[in-house]
Amino acid sequence: MITFYPDTKTFKLDTSESSYIFRITGAGYLRHIWYGHLLHEHELDRLTVRDGRDSSVPGSSDPDPWFSADTAAMEYPTFGAGDFRISALEVKNPAGNSVTDMRYVSHEIYAGKRPIPGIPSTFAKDDEADTLEILCRDVTGLLVTLYYTAYRNLPVISRRVSVKNGGEGDMYVKNIASMSVDFTHPEFDMLGLWGAWGRERHPERRRLIHGITELSSKRGASGHYHNPFAALLSPECTEEYGEAYGFSLVYSGNFAIKAELDSFGLTRILLGISPDGFEWKLEAGEEFYSPEALTVYSDNGIGGMSRAFHKLFRNHICGSVWQHKTRPVIVNNWEATYFNFDDDKLVSIAKDAADLGIDMLVMDDGWFGKRNDDRRSLGDWYTNEEKLKGGLPSLVSRVNALGVRFGIWFEPEMICPDSDLYRAHPDWALHTEGRGMSISRSQYVLDLTRPEVCDYIVGFMTNTLSSANIEYVKWDFNRCLTEVASLSLPTDRQGEVFHRYVLGLYSVLERVTSAFPNVLFEGCASGGGRYDPAMLAYFPQYWTSDDTDPVERISIQLGTSVVYPAATMSCHVSASPNHQTGRRSKLETRGNVAMAGVFGYELDLNRMTDDEKETVKRQVEKYKKISHIVMDGELYRLIPPTGDVAAWEYVTENKKEALFTFVAINARIAPVYFVKLRGLDPNLTYLDDFGNRFSGEALMYAGLNLTRGWRDGDSVTVHFTAEE
Ligand code: GLA
Repeated sequence: MITFYPDTKTFKLDTSESSYIFRITGAGYLRHIWYGHLLHEHELDRLTVRDGRDSSVPGSSDPDPWFSADTAAMEYPTFGAGDFRISALEVKNPAGNSVTDMRYVSHEIYAGKRPIPGIPSTFAKDDEADTLEILCRDVTGLLVTLYYTAYRNLPVISRRVSVKNGGEGDMYVKNIASMSVDFTHPEFDMLGLWGAWGRERHPERRRLIHGITELSSKRGASGHYHNPFAALLSPECTEEYGEAYGFSLVYSGNFAIKAELDSFGLTRILLGISPDGFEWKLEAGEEFYSPEALTVYSDNGIGGMSRAFHKLFRNHICGSVWQHKTRPVIVNNWEATYFNFDDDKLVSIAKDAADLGIDMLVMDDGWFGKRNDDRRSLGDWYTNEEKLKGGLPSLVSRVNALGVRFGIWFEPEMICPDSDLYRAHPDWALHTEGRGMSISRSQYVLDLTRPEVCDYIVGFMTNTLSSANIEYVKWDFNRCLTEVASLSLPTDRQGEVFHRYVLGLYSVLERVTSAFPNVLFEGCASGGGRYDPAMLAYFPQYWTSDDTDPVERISIQLGTSVVYPAATMSCHVSASPNHQTGRRSKLETRGNVAMAGVFGYELDLNRMTDDEKETVKRQVEKYKKISHIVMDGELYRLIPPTGDVAAWEYVTENKKEALFTFVAINARIAPVYFVKLRGLDPNLTYLDDFGNRFSGEALMYAGLNLTRGWRDGDSVTVHFTAEE
């Protein structure tokens, strides 16, 4: 619910669990007052009082003599007009300076939520959320609109900003954060998700100290190294207790999340497109839209915050028909064959898949051009008929004839110098004139700011997907952007290329996914390198990591789950010893770990023994029985994977079913383990899959007794069902 109190000119935005309050001052500044637990009152000005002014703190034109934009909690801080902390908005005006300031003009409140032109964002029906739009103006004629959507049944506020040149000369947007929040309490820890290739999204917590902390990407993609997410935690916040504020940017390109603790105990956090290398020209009348930022409030710890993000991303970001459908169990041939396969080999994997109950074969990299290694042919998206005799239609119908569905791999945004496409269109690769091009995995990046390049991608994808019964696409992206410039834009618009690339990508994804609404699209970027909420608008599932080692995967998956739901996490059982770490592991444990997400296989089924095939068959059967718990259930991270054991649990919303997993990462002699389950109904009786009966209260308050002789790498997954 969103309320405006005209007497005090105060806005109050209430979600299911949080309140967000700010007001218009006498001079028209927007002054932030409160973000936190749901409150019934709105007269909270006392929270913003900050005593003590000296000559280092500038005054303002506000009638309140104590008000200074430099010490006040500001709603959307601008650059150059008295607030010296990190700023959300900086626009160079026609006079050539970057002084940016804004005052309230008008506002509008309505039910529901409107989309952002050209940028994916969360959606909500009129009875699910309310939106406030506030128009502000700078003396230069710059018009700034702040958008807030408060979800009614989730503790979520969505924010974004647009700026319009309402003046006469050209303006240049140099920095535009999607949101900013000022907290008047000084004590916060900051949680981020750092990573690398094969080691994505590991939580890291630090105390915020005076000065600026930044998590960001300048790689042209959200990337492996930092996810566009951060949380501010009260110092006492733990997995299930205490206050957590989560912030997530719905964007796939360069981003920056900055937090500053100022000298007067105020903590500011802002997130948006990274200002590094960014400059967007606004001619008179032109408008620029920021991507969306999401905030979640929880007073049930990090776990409560994660569960709110999960609900949001399960129900409000992806419109694909696959979002709520049972996903196929896949076998992907990448780690099975790498580039070394032909049609007969794929058909023989599909034969085993059919026997084992696996639903779909995905043909990975290597099926097109002269792609027999990773050094050539990206861009040449025509079937290599030496490998696939009879072409795609023949292969797909042979696989389908076995009762197995067919999926295919693309890396659409790339071009190899050794490709027919590059020989025909060298200027289609991002580059700057007269400067060398950084090569990575023998490939360059296509210039998606150019409409003809976007049309080319849509064209070959449409042709391929129409040529045979292809029901799944893995959309890969395996390098970052360098020498970012475009021949298609004038010099004073080169600062737009990073963002225009992302807009080009969204337009292509929009066109391809809407032309093939029944195809299941899975995202990938050298594993989980562009795993962000905007990608989830097109990809109901994402390849979590190229590291498929089960021990590593526990950390990667539980780290990913800090923000993203299991329904988005693609998790495969691969061979032992593992191709990335060399570790040997039990097939059963590989299965139990992969069952924490969208389940599949990434190995050569033909090389499995009969015993192993029996295990696979049982795993597939089991997953099909429990997948609804994982896909739609609430996650509880019970024991973090930082010690000898790890445990997690999914519970259905009606609390009638739960899936519990325990892994003995390092075996210890004479260990004692009681693991308390969470989220169950204490008054129900649950049966496990071995026929044992437990009361919900015993499972939650006394715990499950797992004291036994675990061998190294053992694990168990238990399915609890409430007795009728
Ligand atoms: C990336 C992906 C892998 C695989 C290869 C193919 O590394 O993450 O899963 O598709 O590309 O080249």
